[in-house]
Amino acid sequence: MTTATEESFLNDLELSLKEAWKLLIDGKKDRTSPLHTPVVASVDSNGNPSQRVMVLRKVDRENRLLRFNTDLRATKVAEIGEQAAISILCYHPAAKTQLRLTGSGRIETQGPAVDENWENATLYGKRCYLAYPAPGSVVDRPTSGLHPDLEGQKPSADKVAPARSNFAILLAEIERIEWLYLAHTGHRRARYIWDDDAGAWESEWLVP
Ligand SMILES: Cc1cc2nc3c(=O)[nH]c(=O)nc-3n(C[C@H](O)[C@H](O)[C@H](O)COP(=O)(O)O)c2cc1C
Repeated sequence: MTTATEESFLNDLELSLKEAWKLLIDGKKDRTSPLHTPVVASVDSNGNPSQRVMVLRKVDRENRLLRFNTDLRATKVAEIGEQAAISILCYHPAAKTQLRLTGSGRIETQGPAVDENWENATLYGKRCYLAYPAPGSVVDRPTSGLHPDLEGQKPSADKVAPARSNFAILLAEIERIEWLYLAHTGHRRARYIWDDDAGAWESEWLVP
């Protein structure tokens, strides 16, 4: 949860942006934060919006990257692939802040970032990637998709090791942030657009 006072950032574009990133960084660390589980939107193969809740696994403010875990066989992976428009929505009621982030998403299956997320996953978390058939498959009975040997008990590291081949990460490179802050005295809304040439955020106030 943020510790900054409202007065410190309410009328300051730079501090409001700092506050937005702090909420995300805190949300990654704090499982109870609403920003721990943002809504991630992409566009499906028919051009329709497609949203899902995902756990925020890493926030890299310097490189404007958010990182999520996914099953390689998931529908969103096919939708996003190596590059796709992505939008992330979160609202923190106690911080009275809505963040709408947009940018470019990509799926990675190999490399240090994927290895790091895999290593940080719990055995229960890793077990999810053993579901068979693939997530989203139509089946003729209710199922977790897990083999009965894997249900109802903590899985061993050996048992979950094969799940690594179904594991991937989604990297969202943020290019635009819209910050909305709800205040009794009057709401505030700001937009930040990343300027690649300048290597800086362009910022402007909007009417809420
Ligand atoms: C609290 C919560 C956290 C979730 N975390 C993830 C996650 O980190 N990664 C993920 O792929 N799906 C996660 N899901 C499931 C997705 O919301 C979604 O149902 C699933 O990924 C299938 O989406 P897709 O068909 O668009 O690929 C989570 C769901 C909930 C309710």
